[in-house]
Amino acid sequence: ALVSMRQLLDHAAEHSYGLPAFNVNNLEQMRAIMEAADQVNAPVIVQASAGARKYAGAPFLRHLILAAVEEFPHIPVVMHQDHGASPDVCQRSIQLGFSSVMMDGSLLADGKTPASYEYNVDVTRKVVEFSHACGVSVEGEIGVLGNLETGEAGEEDGVGAVGKLSHDQMLTSVEDATRFVKDTGVDALAIAIGTSHGAYKFTRKPTGDVLRIDRIKEIHEALPNTHLVMHGSSSVPQEWLAVINEFGGNIGETYGVPVEEIVEGIKHGVRKVNIDTDLRLASTGAIRKFMAEHPAEFDPRKYLAKTVEAMKQICIDRYLAFGCEGQA
Ligand code: G3H
Ligand code: 13P
Ligand code: ZN
Repeated sequence: ALVSMRQLLDHAAEHSYGLPAFNVNNLEQMRAIMEAADQVNAPVIVQASAGARKYAGAPFLRHLILAAVEEFPHIPVVMHQDHGASPDVCQRSIQLGFSSVMMDGSLLADGKTPASYEYNVDVTRKVVEFSHACGVSVEGEIGVLGNLETGEAGEEDGVGAVGKLSHDQMLTSVEDATRFVKDTGVDALAIAIGTSHGAYKFTRKPTGDVLRIDRIKEIHEALPNTHLVMHGSSSVPQEWLAVINEFGGNIGETYGVPVEEIVEGIKHGVRKVNIDTDLRLASTGAIRKFMAEHPAEFDPRKYLAKTVEAMKQICIDRYLAFGCEGQA
């Protein structure tokens, strides 16, 4: 059944687990997520970015998710809109049937320029008002994602802030988190603790100075009833980087957020963990390998089936690590 995010996150808090929120753009990702959830009996959050809506078209995404609900009626599914750039975008998603929206007011509507606290509160509160009126949950974000060492926002290809960011912008303070929740009434709060979108998060395995799990603990102590969200939480599996590079790819040395650090966050109030890049890496690796090993094959179902298999294993691993097994 299609459920609101609030329902799932309340359940996750009550039973001390966290939910991966996977981005979807196509049938293969949707199948991988649902088959994995079905196998371990986990609830599902799937989210569509602006890029996904541009790629697949909102009606296709909507029906892809509704098809999942139809095929797996026993699994609760949240249809979430990722990183809404303005209240208008969120309103359109609600009209389309999304059960949850993110208003990302940490950046202006261009999705690139860091916004003031007042702007963020203003747009987020507006979205909370009209969303709650129709039973739709709202995620807000305070702080700007970026690498605490380099000041880089991450992805070059258009997701996130542009230009150098200050340390303070990239590390959500306890004070800001507290007043933001009070000022907006969001159901879930995304915070910045040193992660960033995409594959190039850290140049070495992250240590406590660049991945501030300690800040999650402090914010959770101040806001014990707020569901925290970690963005940019792909783990960037070294095995898949190796497969990609072995079969003609070229991805430089890079590190993601270790699963055990996310698990530590889940012990301290993290309830939603956003993952996109890991499924992209697994699917690219699986295709590269299949193509290299079967040069005469030309039926797309052959290599796309390999992507489902690869992505499904990542989904199962995260559902198990985050404690979702049997929670559907
Ligand atoms: O928000 C970040 C997600 O990884 C979505 O990326 O805009 O390329 O779909 P995208
Ligand atoms: P990754 O790029 O780490 O997968 O993060 C995805 C995300 O935060 C989507 O909102
Ligand atoms: Zn994100």
